[in-house]
Amino acid sequence: MIVEEKKSDRAQAAGKEPEQSAVKLIPVYVMGKRYEVPEGFTIMKAMEYAGYRFIRGCGCRGGTCGACGTVYRKPGDYKIQVALACQKTVEPDMYITQMPFFPVNRASYEFSDLTSAPEEVFKLYPELFRCVACNACSKACPQGVEVMDAIAALKRGDISEAARLSFECIQCGLCTSRCFGELAQYHMFQLARRIYGARILVRAEHLADMVKAVDQGKYDGILNELKNMKEDELKELYKQREVEPVSAGENWQPEDTRYL
Ligand code: SF4
Ligand code: SF4
Ligand code: FES
Repeated sequence: MIVEEKKSDRAQAAGKEPEQSAVKLIPVYVMGKRYEVPEGFTIMKAMEYAGYRFIRGCGCRGGTCGACGTVYRKPGDYKIQVALACQKTVEPDMYITQMPFFPVNRASYEFSDLTSAPEEVFKLYPELFRCVACNACSKACPQGVEVMDAIAALKRGDISEAARLSFECIQCGLCTSRCFGELAQYHMFQLARRIYGARILVRAEHLADMVKAVDQGKYDGILNELKNMKEDELKELYKQREVEPVSAGENWQPEDTRYL
């Protein structure tokens, strides 16, 4: 949710405000209301500059949490555009509205009951087959995910491919907001990746061996030794640590192999 704040809160909300004389202000419309904001600001910073405070719809500010989905349109263009508010910079006369949450269907399931059978995904998300292959989802994705292809993979039961194609998904929901078939693509992708990770991906034997070694106390001695060290000793030990060279090959090993 976003609430509008008093003008006196602007400077604090937007961080250090640039010198007015050094900054070109451009007009934008936030939920229909006109504001003058500095050119070059992201939509998020511009909204904060205009006096809005993000209570929800803002997380990482770095394009990775997917919280700041935004819808906008430019003058003279019929086209509705979507973007992440923390990434997209403002343009003159842009009409902006925030979409911090998009209500979609998220199937309820007990993961331990699921196998890797595609039919289980079909049963949980039958709307998968409402996809009409319009590709509006892929065009909307700020992460460059080939959303339609990932959905097509799921439709043909290829969970591994759907998981691979959707790996960069940050669950912003922008694809869903544009979907003609009203699919919640990102929830389907999350399920695909869960199934892939837990049921399809081959287990790493060396990891299992290491977990066993930890359980059997292989590292208890060294950990206790480290815990009993003084801060200065720890810092010195850290400085002297052997660092893997950039050019190290696959078979590189440190001189001290006791803890491998
Ligand atoms: S696939 Fe959809 S939810 Fe995921 S990042 Fe792309 S647009 Fe956002
Ligand atoms: S927007 Fe919806 S209907 Fe269109 S291709 Fe993507 S998933 Fe299918
Ligand atoms: S705030 Fe996290 S993606 Fe924009």
